[in-house]
Amino acid sequence: MTLLRDHDLARAFDHASPTYDRLTALHPGYRTDLLRSARRLRLPDGGAGLHVLDLGCGTGTSTRALLRAAPRARITAVDASSGMLRRARAKPWPDRVRFLHLTAEEMAKAGEGPLDAVFAAYLFRNVIHPNRVLAAVRSLLRPGGRLAVHEYSLTGSPAHRALWTAVCRGVIVPTGTLTGDRALYHHLWRSVLAFDTASAFADRLARAGFTGVRAAPVAGWQTGIVHTFLARNGSTTTGERTR
Ligand SMILES: C[S@@+](CC[C@H](N)C(=O)[O-])C[C@H]1O[C@@H](n2cnc3c(N)ncnc32)[C@H](O)[C@@H]1O
Repeated sequence: MTLLRDHDLARAFDHASPTYDRLTALHPGYRTDLLRSARRLRLPDGGAGLHVLDLGCGTGTSTRALLRAAPRARITAVDASSGMLRRARAKPWPDRVRFLHLTAEEMAKAGEGPLDAVFAAYLFRNVIHPNRVLAAVRSLLRPGGRLAVHEYSLTGSPAHRALWTAVCRGVIVPTGTLTGDRALYHHLWRSVLAFDTASAFADRLARAGFTGVRAAPVAGWQTGIVHTFLARNGSTTTGERTR
């Protein structure tokens, strides 16, 4: 099956947006895993004085995690799907959180940098040119700025691949079919199988010029299936604001 890309993917997310929060609420650990990954950015002072980007914010669940991890940061959240963004904007947010309808690829030209940190949850598996998006992220981050990518990325072990396929066949695709979004949830299944393994994505980050790259597993049944990737934009400088 061909994976959904670009406008087709944005349209599929538009269609799925009314039921997206209900489906992810059924997913054990969805919110706590996002919060754990956002906290792994270890932004100091609750993010006071920092500008942080949520790339591919969807309906705002990852934005909420970022806000909880850095309650004093200014947060810009962007997404390619107008339907997902409509759901995000309809939620209550403090003034320092704002949403923009932009693709990750367009973000580099939007004049939003320099940023102190970027959080990207469940995005990279969906983009056509991950290296270009990583280059865009680096161009937006200040030197030493932090990146946390929360993503389905298998270890490469046959057991994790088989578990992912069993969960998709048994739960995710049938549930998505009930809401009329089979193509999107089938895409979820296949895109995870097609995406980089955790070590390959860590190598991709290093090749893109990120430093201090490490992959940390999440807890629960998704251990070996979802990872947080942490990295910095090049070397750090004396006196920088994030530690
Ligand atoms: C699986 S959802 C995750 C949303 C949110 N980060 C969360 O954790 O709940 C992936 C989101 O990435 C967005 N997306 C996919 N490709 C994108 C791109 N190239 N630029 C910006 N957003 C994109 C989709 O529209 C969708 O809202």
